[in-house]
Amino acid sequence: MKIGTIGAGTIARAVARHAARHGHEVVLSNSRGPETLGDVVAEIGPPATAGTRLEAARAEVVLLAVHWTQVPAAVADLPDWDGRIVIDATNQFTSLPPHPVIADLGDLTGSEYIASLLPGARVVKAFNTLYGSYIAADPRHEAGRQLLFLAGDDADARATVRELAEEFGFASIDLGPLREGGRLMQLGGPLSGLHALKQD
Ligand SMILES: NC(=O)c1ccc[n+]([C@@H]2O[C@H](COP(=O)([O-])OP(=O)(O)OC[C@H]3O[C@@H](n4cnc5c(N)ncnc54)[C@H](OP(=O)(O)O)[C@@H]3O)[C@@H](O)[C@H]2O)c1
Repeated sequence: MKIGTIGAGTIARAVARHAARHGHEVVLSNSRGPETLGDVVAEIGPPATAGTRLEAARAEVVLLAVHWTQVPAAVADLPDWDGRIVIDATNQFTSLPPHPVIADLGDLTGSEYIASLLPGARVVKAFNTLYGSYIAADPRHEAGRQLLFLAGDDADARATVRELAEEFGFASIDLGPLREGGRLMQLGGPLSGLHALKQD
């Protein structure tokens, strides 16, 4: 599978490493251009490459891993998503810890807001509930596999992300649509920052 990342920081690199390790073609992108990502792709190793935002966004599955306030610029001017899957790993901090401020979207969940910026995309919220170090680590522990929650409005897109997560070694838990599942996973929800293992 071809996987693009918009953002090439802690979360994008962690997911890219899992994907590359399992033979997926990965294209990482950031705000400064592919020429700034040489060390990053060299460290992840082939089949990871650096690309533009547009090149990353053309992949079958695209991980959105930039800070909340960076999202509008990161997804600006991209063509219609045409049914491609976007994994939304963001958390809706308008100001980061140690002085966190959480975006107030009223009734809307964070990923529904993100979906509104991505016309035609099938958005699946995933990876946002875990600390970066738990995403980067091997999810298979002696006591069990790291739980990975996910939510999205398209069942097939959720199934694709589940398959990827399981392949990486996570124990995936499908929470259904963004409205209900996303709310459980986002900042302030009961699953945000919950790190738990599943015994197989
Ligand atoms: N870190 C965690 O433990 C953790 C855990 C769960 C979820 N999250 C969420 O995951 C998201 C990413 O966090 P992170 O820790 O990976 O952030 P990070 O390490 O600071 O990386 C942010 C990345 O976004 C890129 N970026 C910024 N503006 C961009 C734009 N306009 N176009 C393309 N790329 C752009 C940056 O590239 P440049 O350097 O070139 O600007 C950088 O590669 C956040 O929403 C965060 O809340 C983080």
